[in-house]
Amino acid sequence: MCGIVGYVGPNSSIDVLLRGLSRLEYRGYDSAGVAVIGTDAHLRTRKHAGKLKVLLDELKASPIQDGQTGIGHTRWATHGGPTDGNAHPHLGDAGKLALIHNGIIENFASLKEELLLDGETFTSETDSEVVAIMAGRAYRETGDLTRAMREVVARLEGAFTLLIVHEDRPGEVVGARRNSPLVIGLGDGENFLGSDVAAFVEFTRRAVEIGQDQIVTIRPDSVEVTDFDGNPVETREYEIAWDASASEKGGWSSFMRKEISEEPDAVANTLRGRVHEGEVLLPELGVLDDAVLASLDRIVIIGCGTAAYAGMLGTYAIESWARIPVEVELSHEFRYRNPVINERTLVVSISQSGETMDTLMAVKYARGEGARTLSICNTQGSSIPRESEAVLYTHAGPEVAVASTKAFVAQVTALYLLGLHLASVRGTLSADEITASINELLAIPGKLADVLIASADIGQLAGWMADTRSVLFLGRNVGFPVALEGALKLKELAYIHAEGFAAGELKHGPIALIEPGQIVFVIVPSPRDPNSLHPKVVSNIQEIRARGARVIAIAEKGDAAVLPFADEVIPIPLAAPMFEPLLAVVPLHIFALELATAKGLDVDQPRNLAKSVTVE
Ligand code: F6R
Repeated sequence: MCGIVGYVGPNSSIDVLLRGLSRLEYRGYDSAGVAVIGTDAHLRTRKHAGKLKVLLDELKASPIQDGQTGIGHTRWATHGGPTDGNAHPHLGDAGKLALIHNGIIENFASLKEELLLDGETFTSETDSEVVAIMAGRAYRETGDLTRAMREVVARLEGAFTLLIVHEDRPGEVVGARRNSPLVIGLGDGENFLGSDVAAFVEFTRRAVEIGQDQIVTIRPDSVEVTDFDGNPVETREYEIAWDASASEKGGWSSFMRKEISEEPDAVANTLRGRVHEGEVLLPELGVLDDAVLASLDRIVIIGCGTAAYAGMLGTYAIESWARIPVEVELSHEFRYRNPVINERTLVVSISQSGETMDTLMAVKYARGEGARTLSICNTQGSSIPRESEAVLYTHAGPEVAVASTKAFVAQVTALYLLGLHLASVRGTLSADEITASINELLAIPGKLADVLIASADIGQLAGWMADTRSVLFLGRNVGFPVALEGALKLKELAYIHAEGFAAGELKHGPIALIEPGQIVFVIVPSPRDPNSLHPKVVSNIQEIRARGARVIAIAEKGDAAVLPFADEVIPIPLAAPMFEPLLAVVPLHIFALELATAKGLDVDQPRNLAKSVTVE
């Protein structure tokens, strides 16, 4: 939520900031703004409600003086609506200091009260402006921007990333973070700050993580990091594993379309180097060694939204293979219900961004209770892996579209690897069974490529349904999380009512929703399924068809039993039942994309959403 970028160096800061913001816009698009210290040593800001394009057009029509120091922000509104006035940067010290903020200042009301009593005035409804005014006052007293930041953060409660610049201090940007992301980009005679590395990857691939409760001061030739008390801290430099082209559209009409096309690679890259001669190799588990894994008596998987649905699939696979109780829970529910966890519980957190505040807080809580913690994450250097004992990175590459697609299949792949590793450590599957499952996994990327080809007509199907007001999704067993994921994608992209149900639950209530013409997607298990769920789902289809539903079945290629009862069948290649979700989910991702496109909606930036949810 909210994208942040800062720059000091010899180049045009407006250019660097706007390029950075264009890569960070997925984090929020309610407004955008920049503040730059011009070559005449005056601070200028320009900010606008609406997407970044509005700011770009405005700067083109009426440029501001450029300079070599600046900060930029793209907003997802929390306090105060998406207006010009509430857009960042906010000003302090009579317009000489500019501040941008991501997060929520929980004690802003009392701080504001204090400032009002002292004669300060405000032009916005935001919590952030309070901090800008405080920083301006602290700078006036100290004449030192880093000290001013230190004094301000000492009084703040909540979560924040802050960047400040002051016109008296050209060549200096000061940042601070608590429970909200900030990374440093190291250049040659220039340095960068960003909410994530996408902000500066075009200019440098050298990055440095900033820890919790730390302050950073960048100048063209130096970077200083301290804790909130001013004590220097050690930092770790790393190389960004992807280049700028990976986060560009590269000729695709949308990031989402590009990212769906990358689902086969996301699985292949997550498997790469982790399977060898029929065995799973996960050296990155580090301290979570075989002895620890063997001693576990329970696993709790946590995540939000799509990540939680990936987690649901993990429960089926891990429990079945490793014979250990596994539960999945939404991070924000888990964190606040006093769960029973201890040192024999492994809490596996799943997050594409690695910054989802609900999940981050839940991981911290789990550690505090003595549980062992592992994260499955797609973003190097992000907060959730840093708070966990070990991390399994999903190598899906940067995901820019707000709706998660390729990250989902990569998360499921990582969970399956974990499940097979646990089964090997705990001796619950034979070596041959593990090898057979690994071979199934290795075949998934090729089968996903076939699914993409076979899904070419979904655009036409979605086109016919552009006026649909409600779509239901049914699945059973491992098809159930797929149904939930299909419904979530449709809600968030096409803004229509969509619900996923366990097919067996239908007759316990939801069947009342079925009326003539109701569109229902059904994820049909393989007829080769050893649990014999196939005939039960075919019966469910008949029950809803009898009540007028229009059924679109996602079924294994050659499944003749389903043909007479479905209006449309989207075929998927044959796979062992546990692995079918990886194939069945892709047509649903495509359907949501196509229906939203048919409705003329922005699939990369759906309304009211942001990619990285860094507020609770
Ligand atoms: C849905 C979607 C969200 C995210 C959720 C968690 O398409 O993208 O539901 O899955 O906000 O985000 P991460 O994985 O970054 O923790």
